[in-house]
Amino acid sequence: MNRNHVCALALLTMACGAPPPTVDKKIEPPKPTLTKRAFGSVDGQTATLYTLTNSRGMTAAVTDYGATLVSIRAANKAGQFEDVVLGFDNIEGFVKAVGPYFGSIVGRYGNRIAKGRFTLNGVTHKLATNNGANHLHGGLKGFDKMLWKASESESPDGPAVTFEYVSKDGEEGYPGTLTSRVTYTLTPMNALRIQYEMSSDKDTIANLTNHAYFNLSGDPARGVQDHEFEIRADRYTPVDAGLIPTGELASVEGTPFDFRKPERLGPRMNAQHPQIKIGNGIDHNFVLNSEAGTLRPVVIVREPRSGRVMEVSTTEPGVQFYTGNFLDGTIKGRGGAAYQQRAAFCLETQRFPDSPNQAKFPSAVVKAGEKRTSETAFKFWAE
Ligand code: GLA
Repeated sequence: MNRNHVCALALLTMACGAPPPTVDKKIEPPKPTLTKRAFGSVDGQTATLYTLTNSRGMTAAVTDYGATLVSIRAANKAGQFEDVVLGFDNIEGFVKAVGPYFGSIVGRYGNRIAKGRFTLNGVTHKLATNNGANHLHGGLKGFDKMLWKASESESPDGPAVTFEYVSKDGEEGYPGTLTSRVTYTLTPMNALRIQYEMSSDKDTIANLTNHAYFNLSGDPARGVQDHEFEIRADRYTPVDAGLIPTGELASVEGTPFDFRKPERLGPRMNAQHPQIKIGNGIDHNFVLNSEAGTLRPVVIVREPRSGRVMEVSTTEPGVQFYTGNFLDGTIKGRGGAAYQQRAAFCLETQRFPDSPNQAKFPSAVVKAGEKRTSETAFKFWAE
């Protein structure tokens, strides 16, 4: 622009009566917020959608139905916010989808228990069987299909919602009345933190986890093959044909389960390996290296196109890495998108599958009168 242009621009501005430029107006970052709205009805009761927004504009939405994580909108490298989890526009989608457990809290026991049977304190308990001969994700009506009691809070760590569900003694065959509390907090560091608290009046077992399906590209139609995974696990738990662990803690060395250095998912979930054949992809528990009980980063996922990165931290000893093998395009999710096989992946932090029947696996027992807690966080950034 030469001097004449500048003059012309100044004259034009004056002629239009535009106000003089404002000086020194400080731009405040947006305040974290927590909003809620009706999300539809379940068995005559209203489900509510809670949206947590942090000061960077990232949002996470959760509902009291199944204490479900409905949406996470995280920025890509261009600063564009897109949803990185599978979900539905309203509650009907979650109610109708029996099987995939989109974003739900699964329990009382997330994952499988062989033949729906376990022995505790010398008593054998028979659970509902809903996955062939086995018990999966809490049984015929697990925690994902219950309406939880919600309470909202604001903390220095960010907006938060706590969901509580009391599971009666004998529900789906489990002993003891178990009270579970799950708190979702969205922190200013772009982490969605999930804190779990379980207590029971009798000794029982529990393994609560979140079953969110992630696709960091923001577009499930792209599949997950280009995502790169780093998983801090030297061992995993091989399974039999019913996806029940054999009991072995096998080395990942030389197998498609070796993600100790970042690896593209595509070739791994399609590898020629007997365990991948059984799972129809990856559907396995990884034995996390560092000691359980402290919150430590265990998985890092990168999606090169969007630049999004997700870091998973947990206090739990294991993580079920599931590559959406059972999705088949019949479920139409958010915005009508058909969720095809491997449209997304799950990282379910957990005690190991079938722990109650495996003496060498970390215990899943909740002792009467004692509180068991755990925490998992999903943190996002873009590069
Ligand atoms: C878990 C299991 C899978 C499958 C999904 C739900 O991830 O390990 O085998 O049952 O839940 O579809």
